[in-house]
Amino acid sequence: MKSIVYCLLGFMLVFAVACNSEKGLKDYYKDYYYIGVAVPPQFLEPGKELDLIKKEFNSLTSENDMKWMNIHPEIDKYDFTVADRLVEVGDSNNMFVIGHTLVWHSQLAPWVFKRTETGDPAVDTLLVDSLTLINRIHDHISTIVGRYKDKVDGWDVVNEALNEDGSLRESNFLKIAGDGFIANAFEFAHEADPQAELYYNDYNLVEPAKRDGAVRLVKSLKDKGIRIDGVGIQAHWELNYPSLEEIEKSIMAYSELGVKVSFTELDISVLPSPWRMPSADVSIRFENNETMNPYPNGLPDSVQTALADRYKDIFALFNKHKDKIERVTFWGLHDGASWKNGFPIRGRTDYPLLFNRNLEPKKAYWAVVDLVK
Ligand code: GLA
Repeated sequence: MKSIVYCLLGFMLVFAVACNSEKGLKDYYKDYYYIGVAVPPQFLEPGKELDLIKKEFNSLTSENDMKWMNIHPEIDKYDFTVADRLVEVGDSNNMFVIGHTLVWHSQLAPWVFKRTETGDPAVDTLLVDSLTLINRIHDHISTIVGRYKDKVDGWDVVNEALNEDGSLRESNFLKIAGDGFIANAFEFAHEADPQAELYYNDYNLVEPAKRDGAVRLVKSLKDKGIRIDGVGIQAHWELNYPSLEEIEKSIMAYSELGVKVSFTELDISVLPSPWRMPSADVSIRFENNETMNPYPNGLPDSVQTALADRYKDIFALFNKHKDKIERVTFWGLHDGASWKNGFPIRGRTDYPLLFNRNLEPKKAYWAVVDLVK
């Protein structure tokens, strides 16, 4: 009798372990918020990366392929190849698909502000007038959002339109079309897909001055009766920056406006930041040397643990405010695929994500899971 009981218990244990290994972050966090990932095109094809994406995540963002320069490289030419594939993968796996991003001053196609398409640089340096630019923004948004109507769930409509002091960035969008381009962009997106959620997305949105600027921006859109569903805090963070206090203040400030908060591009660099070093010589700080690239051959246990602790603190805060948070998206699938290896200094070895270069979960992964187990 005893041996039967032991046998049964053993079987149950094996079964529990097997079931557990089937679980991904998205399952542990199913009562919290979406867990997303940003991906390059090659991870959307069958392979171990796609298997990992399907297991762990329930929201998908294209890392680069829905940006203006890639999806709409010429005035009358769109390239939907990668975006179509991303949307297909997302929809066939019940994922919350994000369109990133419609209006952004960076990674923009060179023709957008040019008056003519003569090919003569002397003429082509002239800028378009305001109405032409607004019409171009309209064509861009209605074509793309219209194509993915009912398939893309939420759009980063405008990306990075604020300066650090909270004022509007002097991009050509602002200079040519005036501050109305932001409201116009949201209206065009809403008109093209009335069901889609619409977001404002930016970095440093937990810094007090910039946060105030974003609060003003969201309020001004709402006052005009324009749909905006959420604020996307990019969250390219570090081991000691920003403080949990400022993150929490930001979650509160945005949610008090009646919009959802998402952390849309989370990664935590373990490398020294050239902007936070006490060196006077900027060029030295930006060089790839031993000081700036201390772990080319692997991450010491102590730093692995510090990263796990940092992720744990951050997710504990997110979880406390799960009613206000819609999504947390990681900017990259694994350490080897992170843009942080090349920015702000080229050729470094960073470890900012939850999966290592062999696609295995790191200590930080288990720290995040343990919070909700
Ligand atoms: C910004 C953009 C992203 C991406 C990252 C860096 O945060 O919003 O699309 O380009 O920079 O990779």
